[in-house]
Amino acid sequence: MNTIQKVAIVTGAGQGLGLAIAQKLLSEGMNVAFVDVNERLLAEVQQSDLLTHFDSSKYMFLTVDVSDVLAIQASIHTIVESWGRVDVLVNNAGVRKETAIEDVTEEEWNLILSVNLGGTFFYSQAVLETMKKQQSGRIINISSFGGQAGPLSSGAHYCASKAGQLVLTKAFARSLADQGITVNAVAPAAIETPEMDNMDPTKLEKMQASIPVQRFGKAEEVADMVSYLASDAAGYITGSTFDINGGLLMR
Ligand SMILES: NC(=O)c1ccc[n+]([C@@H]2O[C@H](COP(=O)([O-])OP(=O)(O)OC[C@H]3O[C@@H](n4cnc5c(N)ncnc54)[C@H](O)[C@@H]3O)[C@@H](O)[C@H]2O)c1
Repeated sequence: MNTIQKVAIVTGAGQGLGLAIAQKLLSEGMNVAFVDVNERLLAEVQQSDLLTHFDSSKYMFLTVDVSDVLAIQASIHTIVESWGRVDVLVNNAGVRKETAIEDVTEEEWNLILSVNLGGTFFYSQAVLETMKKQQSGRIINISSFGGQAGPLSSGAHYCASKAGQLVLTKAFARSLADQGITVNAVAPAAIETPEMDNMDPTKLEKMQASIPVQRFGKAEEVADMVSYLASDAAGYITGSTFDINGGLLMR
């Protein structure tokens, strides 16, 4: 019996949650396309020892700005030409700003909305032809606590983009449910990232104390949840949002 070689695309895979998710799916045997706008980050991953255990035919690095629809389409073309299918799309690429409402410029609004929300919409749209042909697929959108509860520290524009992802999750899920394609969202909060190294320790301590489980989350914990949603076991789950926030929001 031929077993299918699964193919995953992870956007924003140059660092942080995206990198942890891409590594996790790779470690589970999938072929993984690491997508990021930042060529330097992708080069650092490529040169690091993170991938030494994997055959180089199992991964590729694609420099793509997810707010550029033509670049998205070109990346899907490259992936399908090389690997023949797309089983999993993780829309993780995101830009977060804390700008106060009074100071948000049109330029910053457009950046946040076009990357976080537009990127999710157009990458999902671009994989549909292939997933529909296969009559199978998993789309997982990395939203945020901010898209559910509104801003704590993040800006209104960021939270609006993250809330928009949750509605897109339902819209795509409903439209694709009868074709073997599931669409779900993960809503993290306060996950440890390199960004925290540059933050004021007193502010960090205060943040940590406000989390019911009294610690920050780990990127690997988000990756584990994504891996479950990407698996065959999750076929009856669609249109849902999975919170991973240490109890910050209980609903
Ligand atoms: N870390 C957290 O606590 C947390 C909490 C809630 C939600 N999230 C969400 O998780 C996702 C990842 O967060 P993170 O903390 O790892 O962020 P990060 O800033 O460390 O990583 C984001 C990655 O996305 C890439 N990226 C940015 N703009 C892009 C574009 N236009 N095209 C392609 N790639 C682009 C960046 O280069 C970077 O590699 C984001 O969508 C974020 O909103 C994170």
